[in-house]
Amino acid sequence: MTVEKNNTTDEKLTVPVQKYKKSQKLPPEGFESTNDFFNYTFENKNLIWMGQNTNHLHDEDDINNAMIKSIKNKEYCKYPAPEGFPELQELILKDLDLEDMSVYISAGATESLHLCMHSILEEKDNVITCDPGYLIIGSFAERFAHNVKYIPIYNNDCNYKLTPKLVRENLDENTKIIVLIDPLNPLGTSYTEEEIKEFAEIAIENNIYLIHDITYKDFAREHFLVAKYAPKHTLTIFSFSKIYGMAGVRIGAVIGVEPLISSMKNVVVNDLGVNIIAQEGAIAALKSKREWIGHVKNTTFENQKIIKKMIDNVDGVFLPVYPSDANMMVIDLTGTGIKAKDMSNYLLKKDIFTREGNYTSKLYGDNYLRISFSIPTEEIKVFCDEFPKAVEALRKK
Ligand SMILES: Cc1ncc(COP(=O)(O)O)c(C=O)c1O
Repeated sequence: MTVEKNNTTDEKLTVPVQKYKKSQKLPPEGFESTNDFFNYTFENKNLIWMGQNTNHLHDEDDINNAMIKSIKNKEYCKYPAPEGFPELQELILKDLDLEDMSVYISAGATESLHLCMHSILEEKDNVITCDPGYLIIGSFAERFAHNVKYIPIYNNDCNYKLTPKLVRENLDENTKIIVLIDPLNPLGTSYTEEEIKEFAEIAIENNIYLIHDITYKDFAREHFLVAKYAPKHTLTIFSFSKIYGMAGVRIGAVIGVEPLISSMKNVVVNDLGVNIIAQEGAIAALKSKREWIGHVKNTTFENQKIIKKMIDNVDGVFLPVYPSDANMMVIDLTGTGIKAKDMSNYLLKKDIFTREGNYTSKLYGDNYLRISFSIPTEEIKVFCDEFPKAVEALRKK
């Protein structure tokens, strides 16, 4: 405990020692805290939203109608079934074409990831993940594991993804979890069926777990589940934040065989269940998916083609992965000498919200800007006008 003396009274303030080594998040230029920054982005209704891989392409559809109906019926006065409505659990299994599995409904993939790390890891265990990647997963693992290995994958040799070969090379006797983010935030790389089968073999041979984060799966041209090949060794992480366009209502799930999900319930914090309005929206989203997915997926894919055309005409920048199988991609800036943070700050002043690399990389943070593009095409065109001007304004070489 750290004890500080308060100057104005004799009352002492005792601050608990921080349990976890959490690196301090630096706010962008001109903001006091990251919360202030995100509040600014939310309040600025003119902002072109390319910074969070969220999806802004849903029209007024069954999803928002279901949530409005739930509010009008005042369903929010009650608590929900604590592990999620069975109808929603069944619809998720149907969506994944999985049988004989349990589903735990969470307040988003973020909670799902924490639950998995907390329930599986012991102090001696090691975890394998990659850099670039979704760093929050590694930071959750660090809370419970002995060591988290961030395998560098920002290169052509491994095709910008964590390959089965890299995993084999980095396995040790204490490895307990391999994290597969598929498609990968931020690069948009994904896996072939052969690779997925090989990951499944690795998990079975070594009797370890695969956490398969499929948050972006529906943007991919093709997608394969490890759970099909190694059901007893896989926990699948599901989110309603991206293709379903429901990030703000915070809903997701974890899917696994019954004993794994049962064991995970031991570490649950949100014992009274997940937002009823969000669950009603999620049910409607899955039931109506066939009606909207074509529009969302095609517009997103066409948007990245427009961006690629623009990038090909700017000296010193390139797309390491194209096409991306997610609703985001990385623009490498190293050939221009521009630091990614300078680029995102510059674009923010033009009302375009993007993310500098250090949000998804400890090793290559200066090298790239991450942009997401499941937004209206008119906004993509504004970005395509502004980006070349930004490069010329900031260019160092
Ligand atoms: C790979 C990955 N997993 C999980 C999440 C968080 O998802 P949710 O909003 O469902 O918590 C994100 C968000 O960007 C992500 O990129």
